[in-house]
Amino acid sequence: MTVRTAVFPVGGLGTRFLPATKAIPKEMLPVVDRPLVEYAVDEAIASGIERFVFVTGHGKTAIEDHFDHHHELEAALTARGREDLLRSITADLLPPGSVAYVRQMQPLGLGHAVWCARHFVGDEPFAVLLPDDLVHGPAPCLADLVAVHARTGGSVLATMEVDPTETRRYGIVDPASTSDDGVVAVRDLVEKPDPAEAPSTTAIVGRYVLVPEVMAVLGDQERGAGGEIQLTDALRRLLGTSPIHAVPLRGRRYDCGTKLGFLEANVALALERDDLGDVTGVLRDLLDGTPT
Ligand code: UTP
Repeated sequence: MTVRTAVFPVGGLGTRFLPATKAIPKEMLPVVDRPLVEYAVDEAIASGIERFVFVTGHGKTAIEDHFDHHHELEAALTARGREDLLRSITADLLPPGSVAYVRQMQPLGLGHAVWCARHFVGDEPFAVLLPDDLVHGPAPCLADLVAVHARTGGSVLATMEVDPTETRRYGIVDPASTSDDGVVAVRDLVEKPDPAEAPSTTAIVGRYVLVPEVMAVLGDQERGAGGEIQLTDALRRLLGTSPIHAVPLRGRRYDCGTKLGFLEANVALALERDDLGDVTGVLRDLLDGTPT
């Protein structure tokens, strides 16, 4: 079955970015000149997604406004003849009726956020994209997962290799076997293990294709690591009945949930732009300590 619906959990508190995220959702912080959440939405569109479900929370209404018309601003830009800027705020708007917002009401964890989208997902496989993870590669990361789902019919996770000291920050895959194209059949998953207990250094990043049965498991509301309802724990419970595969992401993933990862994404994407002036020169001067 094709994957038509994507869930974007954006209900987290974003505490690692305080005070910036006191009044502004983390997902609206700009990477160069576009809000972080737009990169994930673009990736979903490029992967064939047609329905977009945002799981929001308190203080997240700027996200809804961003994906809607702003008639006053559009009229002002038209009056000033700024067709270029007008295009920048209208060209990527999603078709009416294809976007839904559901409030999580309490930030009880990623698993809970996904479960809150259950009535919009229905009985179809669906995608989950965490906008914090900006994936920049030769092809849309989610499209790779969708292709593997079409082959296996089960859930599919994007993964990357991490340093052994970093396993505590991720869900870690216990691999059963790896096929020639690098796709891993998953035997087990462990949420945030200590390095000594980690079954591998293959870490789950924020892109998933999930079978709808995961919603019933999440409905049990079992608390896991940190007292939160964890998506990884629900996936583990699915393992007996439905296969899970892990796909190494192509390209690079920037962890925009951390200050350093966010900075890295801004620099990396700015370096690819030819409309910002001499980005390399500015960086070199900063590193050399020479005033520009
Ligand atoms: P994080 O672990 O990064 O949490 O969530 P956070 O609250 O956003 O940020 P910090 O740790 O306080 O700085 C990973 C993803 O899951 C979503 C977040 O919005 C983010 O996309 N999430 C997390 C929810 O939607 N609801 C939750 O209850 C928790």
